[in-house]
Amino acid sequence: MIRILVLHGPNLNMLGVREESLYGRQTLKDINGLLESWAKKEGVQLEAKQSNREGDLVTWIQEARGQFDAIVINPAAYTHTSIALRDAVLSAEVPTIEVHLSNIHKREEFRHKSYLAGVALGQISGFGSTSYVLGVQAALEHVQSKPSISS
Ligand code: DQA
Repeated sequence: MIRILVLHGPNLNMLGVREESLYGRQTLKDINGLLESWAKKEGVQLEAKQSNREGDLVTWIQEARGQFDAIVINPAAYTHTSIALRDAVLSAEVPTIEVHLSNIHKREEFRHKSYLAGVALGQISGFGSTSYVLGVQAALEHVQSKPSISS
């Protein structure tokens, strides 16, 4: 079975109450529920985790090596600051897709830069929770085009 790890970065635990005009009303639980139903339908094993701490995200990316076929990550504000997350993705060698709820390229200039994008398979930005669904779909298609680590 194909295994996908979904990681949510800082402040995403506040979705639903946080800057509603930008991020909408869906909570993190709603988004994870959406992804769970998608995974069930596709027969994929999906695990979702959130942390406000950079080190937790680094550790989870490292631990994904050999355990997951792909990572879908919304690094939130760490997108724009974290060389540590970029290095973790490089060292884990697990195909990684970057997702954002908002279109980061349409927002403040400091959000246009992503330290992760250059080491990710691709970036999906601006479609709300659909960005995550597109992210896991892209991850699945990518993995299906290669032999699974669990087969
Ligand atoms: C975000 C965009 C980031 O710039 C911001 O810091 C976030 C959320 C998004 O999903 O649109 O926390 O990653």
